[in-house]
Amino acid sequence: MKALCWHGTGDVRVDTVPDPEIRNPRDAIIKITASAICGSDLHLFNGFMPTMEAGDILGHEPMGEVVELGSGVSNLEVGHGVVVPFTVSCGSCLFCEKTLFSCCDTSNPNAEIARKAMGHSPAALLGYSHMLDGFPGGQAEYLRVPFADVGPLKIESGLLDEQVVLLSDIFPTGYMAAENCGIEKGDTVAVWGCGPVAQFAIQSAWMLGAGRVIAIDRVPERLRMAAEHGKAETINFDDDDVYEKLQEMTRGRGPDRCIDAVGCEAHSGGSLDGVMDKVKAAVMLTTDRAHVLRQAIMCCRKGGTISVPGAYVGAPDEIPMGAFMNKGLTMKSRQTHMQRYMKPLREKIEAGAIEPSFVITHKVKLADAPEAYKTFRDKKDGCIKVVLQP
Ligand SMILES: NC(=O)c1ccc[n+]([C@@H]2O[C@H](COP(=O)([O-])OP(=O)(O)OC[C@H]3O[C@@H](n4cnc5c(N)ncnc54)[C@H](O)[C@@H]3O)[C@@H](O)[C@H]2O)c1
Ligand SMILES: [Zn+2]
Ligand SMILES: [Zn+2]
Repeated sequence: MKALCWHGTGDVRVDTVPDPEIRNPRDAIIKITASAICGSDLHLFNGFMPTMEAGDILGHEPMGEVVELGSGVSNLEVGHGVVVPFTVSCGSCLFCEKTLFSCCDTSNPNAEIARKAMGHSPAALLGYSHMLDGFPGGQAEYLRVPFADVGPLKIESGLLDEQVVLLSDIFPTGYMAAENCGIEKGDTVAVWGCGPVAQFAIQSAWMLGAGRVIAIDRVPERLRMAAEHGKAETINFDDDDVYEKLQEMTRGRGPDRCIDAVGCEAHSGGSLDGVMDKVKAAVMLTTDRAHVLRQAIMCCRKGGTISVPGAYVGAPDEIPMGAFMNKGLTMKSRQTHMQRYMKPLREKIEAGAIEPSFVITHKVKLADAPEAYKTFRDKKDGCIKVVLQP
């Protein structure tokens, strides 16, 4: 089959690789019908994630049709349309039982590498480095889905691929980001980033009772989407000092809830901490550029909450822990506990409460994926979210 393979920083190619096979009774094979490119894939494309190997198949936002099932999967049938979550979870360990699916204790066969890096291994993720298992991803014609009796969500109500494919990651991720803020009715929520995850965090903040949403980025069409579709007030960090502007907009108090939907590759707008990050990252002294996390801690109102859906990979430095502690802030972060959110959010789509396809700007063939990665990375051609269709 054809699959999009990682070959090094800035180098992804469509290769011919062996078709996936059932290896475990709980596996399924799906024929991919749609598969999105994520901001998290850019961390791989840009070489920020350790333990990638040449030939790794990328992609963790897939959906498709079941074509083969292991003998242990009784809840699916060949022919079913399914969306596959990016977290691989067993469904029965201590963590899965608590619905902490992204902390699954058993799904990562390379848990020992992750344990050395993080103290404990989180769940395996599809197409996301060998530390997190090395399971081949779904930017391909076919995908082996491990624990297929736990992860995939059936799509039965005549919904189109473009309406549901983002249930594989970023709609649940944006929703979780807003939920993790603990929004109280009328709160002001500031969202760093106007990328796809942020767009869903904005939508979800309103659903969960925000009184105001302020979105921060510098890419004009992303700011426009946040303003027009997301009804957010916006700050362009190239034009304004974000701290000063947020204090001015909140009468000096700061936003009640802050969401870092940017993560480890934040641009710094030329600030000193950002310049230091860039220098350190260039000589491999840091893996993360944490400008947004620092800024959110400084901007947030006392007693407020910081929610971090943005991905970090290592040990970012210069985190203002003194401000965090003395202001009495709370921080919540995680890979999304996907299986907890997919069904209720599908119901919101079915009920017409949200139409997730608003964020998709590009639909391209798998063969054109290498070009699409560059367009998405460089934010060319108004690109906000790419869906690949084999
Ligand atoms: N927690 C999870 O389970 C999970 C799931 C999906 C994605 N993610 C992570 O969420 C983050 C966002 O994903 P995405 O797909 O929206 O990515 P994206 O790269 O498309 O968007 C990031 C946006 O942040 C903006 N940005 C950069 N520096 C900024 C700054 N200083 N201030 C404000 N905005 C800034 C960029 O211009 C861009 O629009 C990534 O780190 C991704 O890895 C996490
Ligand atoms: Zn993703
Ligand atoms: Zn588990």
